[in-house]
Amino acid sequence: MFRTHNNGQLRLADAGKSVTLSGWVQIGRDFGGLTFVDLRDRYGITQIVFDQDDNAELADRARKLGREFVIQVKGIVRERTNKNPNRATGNIEIIASEMTILNKAKTPPFTIEDDTDGGDELRMQYRYLDLRRRPLQDNIIFRSKLALAVRAYLGRKDFVEVETPFLIKSTPEGARDFVVPSRLNEGQFYALPQSPQTFKQLLMVAGYDRYFQIVKCFRDEDLRADRQPEFTQIDCEMAFVEQEDVLNTFEGLTRHLFLEMKGINLPDFPRMQYDDAIRLYGSDKPDLRFGMELVELNDVAQNQGFKVFDAAELVVGIRVPGKAGLTRKQLDKLTDWVKRPQIGAKGLVYVKCNEDGTYKSSVDKFFDQEKLAAWAAATGAQSGDLMLVISGEDEKSRIQMGNLRLHVAGEFDMIPADTFKPLWVVDFPLLEWDEDSERFHAMHHPFTSPKKEEVERMLNGDHETMKALKADAYDLVINGAEIGGGSVRIYDRALQEKNFQLLGFTPEEAEEQFGFLMGAFEYGAPPHAGIAFGFDRLCAVMNGQASIRDFIAFPKNNQGRDVMIDAPARVDEEQLKELSLALNLQEK
Ligand code: AMO
Repeated sequence: MFRTHNNGQLRLADAGKSVTLSGWVQIGRDFGGLTFVDLRDRYGITQIVFDQDDNAELADRARKLGREFVIQVKGIVRERTNKNPNRATGNIEIIASEMTILNKAKTPPFTIEDDTDGGDELRMQYRYLDLRRRPLQDNIIFRSKLALAVRAYLGRKDFVEVETPFLIKSTPEGARDFVVPSRLNEGQFYALPQSPQTFKQLLMVAGYDRYFQIVKCFRDEDLRADRQPEFTQIDCEMAFVEQEDVLNTFEGLTRHLFLEMKGINLPDFPRMQYDDAIRLYGSDKPDLRFGMELVELNDVAQNQGFKVFDAAELVVGIRVPGKAGLTRKQLDKLTDWVKRPQIGAKGLVYVKCNEDGTYKSSVDKFFDQEKLAAWAAATGAQSGDLMLVISGEDEKSRIQMGNLRLHVAGEFDMIPADTFKPLWVVDFPLLEWDEDSERFHAMHHPFTSPKKEEVERMLNGDHETMKALKADAYDLVINGAEIGGGSVRIYDRALQEKNFQLLGFTPEEAEEQFGFLMGAFEYGAPPHAGIAFGFDRLCAVMNGQASIRDFIAFPKNNQGRDVMIDAPARVDEEQLKELSLALNLQEK
């Protein structure tokens, strides 16, 4: 037997027991007569004592133990004289009588402690060592428990978990596909699913009514803190339901998960129309943990001689509470920030609402105190507050201001910790007009249904009508992160064909790519709707973190590489030949 207990288990009540423990050597400390070793496993750390007077040979071997050696220790539990209140096992220690080295270890390239000295790249390269650290173990174990809780909840609600294939044909979710060459079908390729979207709809046609799957999805897109090329969804679909049923079911799931995993009782989720989210927050995923809503200032800021504002479609401002004291340097930095190409604003106007009731602005030349007071009245700014103002095209300026709002809140620590603000964003547009390609794109995906009352207009309307169509599409947003998205689906062949036509598919292209789905719609497709949560994102947001990487055991780096196994990599020529792939491609 390797162990009678784990390293997080023993308490004062166990004093006197004879035990066997196994684990990794965290640190050894040598105090002459006594050698202390911290023995670690995923459950915790237990202090082991080797006493020179008791057993000189054993103490001598203990002194030679290296970091991360795997050892087994036998001994007696005893009360510690200097207790460690920060450790669950801090009241006891084991006085060792035997010790076996189960395996030696090279000195690890970084310390295996909560705060490690290892840099990002090094830790990715030795991911298995990084995963030994407490913070990562906590994340990975949280993830496992969350998945179990999801399965239990949805299982109780009659959802059936069905696995769908990975070797498929392109599913349009807006990213590029990862493709896999087929050996048996020369010159042909599978695509890895960007989501199981079409399969889950086919399962509805097949009568499975309530489907879910915790499933890997693959998208070849640029990576960010909240995006990985392979990530996991809680993917769901329901038949004989309307939008309301889906929202209620998955609000129920989310609230259950917060209660079970965090002990947090979330209130009912507010609903916000997409148009309002853009208008008030400059974002389709508003962070409601703090205020600073966008306020339109056209009425009070235009036609007063300031050409920049007069020429603009929109003048939009926010009130930043308590920040009138920002220095010139800080304000210049904010201006530089909004002018970066990623944000693209032409400039930034500020107004400080001084404690003495006067105003100091970057446009004092054009706006006197009275006029600035009107801005303050519009934004609700009080003495001590700062107003920030951007102008330009309507939607663009709102999005720029939405970004600035988030930046300012983050930069000046204005986001309350341990707060969760979920909401549903609803009534997304069906289509998005892309000026560059002069084409419509599906805002969610091509299987999304227009609102019932829009169907007629969609079938018969003109170009401008199409731009304004609203969909039964919804997102779950928590703390400014898009946690999930879904929609009511089209289940009628003619409407689906019309949608493909609007999206620029010829009938032949639509038939070739999605004929199987449209064909299925002719064999008794029930009305259906669904949603998918980003599982990695849910894990991160529930733990107050922005990056999903450390909730994934083996993630890719920002170049899409796994630096531990060194993938992607070249394959040998034989393999390429078998796949009928041109050899010279590899040389590029
Ligand atoms: P959507 O494309 O909105 O919808 O994806 C659903 C959720 O998946 C998460 N997500 C990601 N997480 C990590 N890395 C990525 N690269 C990534 N891309 C998306 C997000 C997102 O909200 N088939 C539809 C769902 C449906 O209509 O039922 C779909 O995939 O949290």
